[in-house]
Amino acid sequence: MNRKPSFAIIGAGKVGSALGVLLKERGYLPVAVYSRTLSSARRLADQLQTRVVHHPAEAAGAAELVFITTTDREIGSTAALIARKGGCRPGQIIIHTSGALASDILAPVRQQGAWAVSVHPLQAFASLESAKENLPGSCFALEGDEQALDRVIELVNDLRGRYFVIKPEDKPLYHAAAVVASNYLVSLIHLSASIYQELGLDEEQAMDALFPLIQGTINNIARSGPAGALTGPVARGDGATLRGHMKALRKMDWRTREAYRSLGLYTVGVAMENGSLTPNEGAALSNIFLEVDNRDQKSNYSRLPAHETGRHPHSHVNRLRLSDGYVGRCFRYRRNPGGGLPR
Ligand SMILES: NC(=O)c1ccc[n+]([C@@H]2O[C@H](COP(=O)([O-])OP(=O)(O)OC[C@H]3O[C@@H](n4cnc5c(N)ncnc54)[C@H](OP(=O)(O)O)[C@@H]3O)[C@@H](O)[C@H]2O)c1
Repeated sequence: MNRKPSFAIIGAGKVGSALGVLLKERGYLPVAVYSRTLSSARRLADQLQTRVVHHPAEAAGAAELVFITTTDREIGSTAALIARKGGCRPGQIIIHTSGALASDILAPVRQQGAWAVSVHPLQAFASLESAKENLPGSCFALEGDEQALDRVIELVNDLRGRYFVIKPEDKPLYHAAAVVASNYLVSLIHLSASIYQELGLDEEQAMDALFPLIQGTINNIARSGPAGALTGPVARGDGATLRGHMKALRKMDWRTREAYRSLGLYTVGVAMENGSLTPNEGAALSNIFLEVDNRDQKSNYSRLPAHETGRHPHSHVNRLRLSDGYVGRCFRYRRNPGGGLPR
C-alpha cells in the first residue's frame, strides 16, 4: 500500500479539526498543528497525537500537505507569513478550504514553488461529530495548480468524498449557491417556525409539526428534482389563496413579508419551468406578489430607518417590466453613487 502523505493543520477550528481527525483515521500522518490560540492547537494536537508548533511556517515546513483552515480573512496573510519565513518549498501542496476564495489567495506560497489549491467541502461543519458523520459522501469543489490535482483527488477519495473541478472565477457564484442551499434553508425553516410561534406554538412544537413536511419535501426533491417536487398554491395557480397569505402576513414583520414575497416570485418561475403554469398564469401570480398597496408601504417601510430599508428618501413607485412582457409595480431604489446602501 502507498504511504499516505504527512500533513499539518493551521487553524484548529471546526473544519481543520474534522479534516485532521478523518485524515489520521485514513492513514495520513499528522506532523504539526498551529492555531491562533494555544488551547485550540493543543486540543487538536492531543486528538491527533502530534505536536503543537508556534508559527505557521514551522507547521508548513514539517508537512507534505498543508491545510490553512483559518477563517477566510486570515488565509492570505497566513500564506504570506509562511512564504516570508521559508515554510514552503517546491512540490509541497498548500490547501485552503474556503468556498468563496480561489487558490490565488495563496499566491505567496506559489511564488516559492509550492502548489496551491482550494478544496472546498460542500458540507456544513456545525461540530466535529456532525462533520465526521456528514463528510463521507459529500462533494468537494477543487481548483488550483493542475500538478497537485491528482494528489488532491486521492485525498478526497480517501475521505470517501466526491469532487468536481471548478474555475477560479466561478468560486463566488458557486459559494453563493451553497449559501442558499445550506444557510438560507436554515433561515427558511426558522421563518416558517417563527410564524407558528406567532400562532402560539413554542419552537419545539413548531418544529415537531413542520419536520415531517420538511423531510417529505426533501425526499420528493431527491426523487423528482427541485422543479418536479413543487406542490402548493403557486403550482396550482391558486391566486385567491396567495392573496389571502399576503393579507395575513401583514401582521408579521417586514423581513418575513419580504422573504415570502421574493420566494413567491421565484416559485412562480419554478412552476413555469415545470409546466404547471403558463407564462400568462405566471404573470398574473407575479402580480399578486408584486402588488404593494398603501397599507403595505406604511406598515413595512415607513417605520424603518432609511439605512435598514435601503430606500432612498425620494424613491417612488415605478413600473417593472418582466422578460415575459408583464408590467407590474415596484419600488425603484436609486443607487448610491459610492456603492452600498444610501443612508
Ligand atoms: N464551517 C463550515 O461549515 C465550512 C464548510 C466548508 C468550508 N469552510 C471553510 O473552512 C475554513 C475554516 O472554517 P471553520 O468553520 O472551521 O472556522 P472556525 O471554526 O472559526 O475555525 C477557524 C480557526 O482558525 C483559527 N485562526 C483564525 N485566525 C488564525 C490565524 N491567523 N492563524 C492561525 N489560526 C487562526 C481559529 O483559531 P483559534 O481557535 O486558535 O482562535 C479558529 O479555530 C474557512 O475558510 C471556511 O470558509 C467552512
